[in-house]
Amino acid sequence: MPAGQQEMTRADAPVVTHGPDSHAVDSVIRRRFANRRYARRPVSQQMITDILEVARFTPSGANIQPWRVYVLAGPEKDKVSQALLRAHTDERDQHASEYAYYSPELPEPYLSRRNEFGRIFYGSLGIAQSDLAARAGQTAKNYGFFGAPVGLLLTIDRRLATGSWLDLGMFIQTVMIAAGARGLQTCPQETFAKYHRPLRELLPISAEEMVVCGISMGFAEEADTRGLMPKVAVGEFTTFVGFADATEGDPSWDTAKT
Ligand SMILES: Cc1cc2nc3c(=O)[nH]c(=O)nc-3n(C[C@H](O)[C@H](O)[C@H](O)COP(=O)(O)O)c2cc1C
Repeated sequence: MPAGQQEMTRADAPVVTHGPDSHAVDSVIRRRFANRRYARRPVSQQMITDILEVARFTPSGANIQPWRVYVLAGPEKDKVSQALLRAHTDERDQHASEYAYYSPELPEPYLSRRNEFGRIFYGSLGIAQSDLAARAGQTAKNYGFFGAPVGLLLTIDRRLATGSWLDLGMFIQTVMIAAGARGLQTCPQETFAKYHRPLRELLPISAEEMVVCGISMGFAEEADTRGLMPKVAVGEFTTFVGFADATEGDPSWDTAKT
């Protein structure tokens, strides 16, 4: 395991301070993981609408709100999945994402983390990392939204700048948290960006929109916690400056007394 990554499960990481909603919110955030196995149980349009009703309160620079979402279910979702799977199987070299998700040369420590991801991910699926056919088969499952009853596709206006991608990322996480609070699991997926051309043939995606990613969403098939990813410890990515003591965030601290 690369330096700084914690092996402990998500539930037992130390949290000392509590607020009125911290247990519920922390628990939803900690229980979220990239779920790739879904039950057939359907999810209603109302539930998705409720999730988006919450997510629309995501902040964005100058309140631009750059997100655009396509929500797919039923036979229409299947039609999209089949088209993408066909493209992926027959002509994958003819397709390319309109943006680079990964740097072509990952520096450390990111390279080690990605290697660790590969070991855990394929290990949890019983796939040897050298087994390219099995790995390709796993990648293909992305296009069926891993069997989830609902698939979301997110786009952004290509005329916007990098800052708006921050806003979209926050929106995506808010969607996943609101879904998690309703007992749903999710998986964000950049793999959809590659097949934006077949997507444009099936959905009313305008020329200005760039396909950024998808999200699989549904109830989990089972409590599938295999392959949980280790997370870097707070001290590895944080520099605290100017803290004298721990009074802030402590609910027993009463401003009236000061
Ligand atoms: C923007 C984004 C794109 C992702 N794309 C994919 C994808 O295309 N396919 C996939 O199986 N997982 C994808 N993932 C899931 C990551 O592999 C996963 O979030 C990461 O390994 C950390 O694991 P965790 O989400 O379970 O904590 C993506 C995650 C993010 C945030």
